[in-house]
Amino acid sequence: MKCLVTGGAGFIGSHLCERLLAGGHDVTALDDLSTGSLANLQACSQNSRFTFVEADLRDEAALGRTVRAADAVWHLAAAVGVRLILESPARTIETNVEGTALLLRLAALNKTRTLITSTSEVYGKSERVPFKEDDDVTLGPVTRSRWSYAASKMLDEFLALASHAERGVPVVIARLFNTVGARQTGRYGMVLPRLVGQALRSEPLTVFGDGLQSRCFGSVHDVVGALITLMATPAATGEVVNLGNPEEITILDLARRIITTTGSASTIVHVPYDEAFREGFEDMRRRVPDISKARRLIGFAPKHDLAAILKDVITDVRSRTNT
Ligand SMILES: NC(=O)c1ccc[n+]([C@@H]2O[C@H](COP(=O)([O-])OP(=O)(O)OC[C@H]3O[C@@H](n4cnc5c(N)ncnc54)[C@H](O)[C@@H]3O)[C@@H](O)[C@H]2O)c1
Repeated sequence: MKCLVTGGAGFIGSHLCERLLAGGHDVTALDDLSTGSLANLQACSQNSRFTFVEADLRDEAALGRTVRAADAVWHLAAAVGVRLILESPARTIETNVEGTALLLRLAALNKTRTLITSTSEVYGKSERVPFKEDDDVTLGPVTRSRWSYAASKMLDEFLALASHAERGVPVVIARLFNTVGARQTGRYGMVLPRLVGQALRSEPLTVFGDGLQSRCFGSVHDVVGALITLMATPAATGEVVNLGNPEEITILDLARRIITTTGSASTIVHVPYDEAFREGFEDMRRRVPDISKARRLIGFAPKHDLAAILKDVITDVRSRTNT
């Protein structure tokens, strides 16, 4: 198969490219290198079946060429990360909405099979546990730009389902929960690499608020496998599917576990949300995926637990930072 991965130089995209190449496919990665990097594609670039195109997703000529040449498109390019979204709210909305709209219009021309990566952020601050794909969503007010990421991704989902219904585009939407592993950076507010980096540098681990907010961390290896299987599953067409690991941990316990696993002498300091982000920042206490739909459709069952994930991330951060 000829595969196109938008955002292929990013954290998840680079793992996806590697896995597709290992499966014998031809792979093109399109990326503007805004948060991704060529270093992520080091393993891929050795392979003659791999092509890298440096372009903005909204460059119609470049995207058009790569979509026309593809049998299947995995759409991962997006402005990602809480901090980036607070710093560049307009860019977030434009990248996520205009880019996806263009991609879906191009995919409609040849009815190219397309997978859109969305996010558990679309569930907003709903207090339901666990989150199921057809649950109601509750977003904060438009004056809090944090919610623009969720809203932009939600619009992508609407547009994908509408393109399927109205134009026959074979789409599937993967709603990813926190996905972690090697190559994720802490620069844009990703909690796990940030805390691991602090532990390895023997700095205090900064935990926002009381730290009793919990998260579920899914391994990039499990997620990438599921993204490939979803694309190959006709029954998934037109569906929204949660992907994540329901194993839950509070951020405070995560910080403690990182200190123990790394053998660090670091302490833990609590930083109020208003100080870490800005006044009135809203966060969710819990965010747990219901993965029964993914299990039913593709037999999805996460194989990597938090211990395995931590090992991967610690090794990666160590090698990247010489700590
Ligand atoms: N990592 C997670 O926990 C998580 C959770 C939910 C959803 N997602 C989704 O998964 C996808 C991949 O996220 P990631 O964690 O790998 O982040 P990432 O930032 O590493 O990857 C995004 C990639 O898109 C590229 N990009 C951004 N704007 C672009 C543009 N205008 N044109 C071309 N390329 C552009 C970036 O350079 C980067 O390589 C995103 O769509 C994100 O919303 C990720």
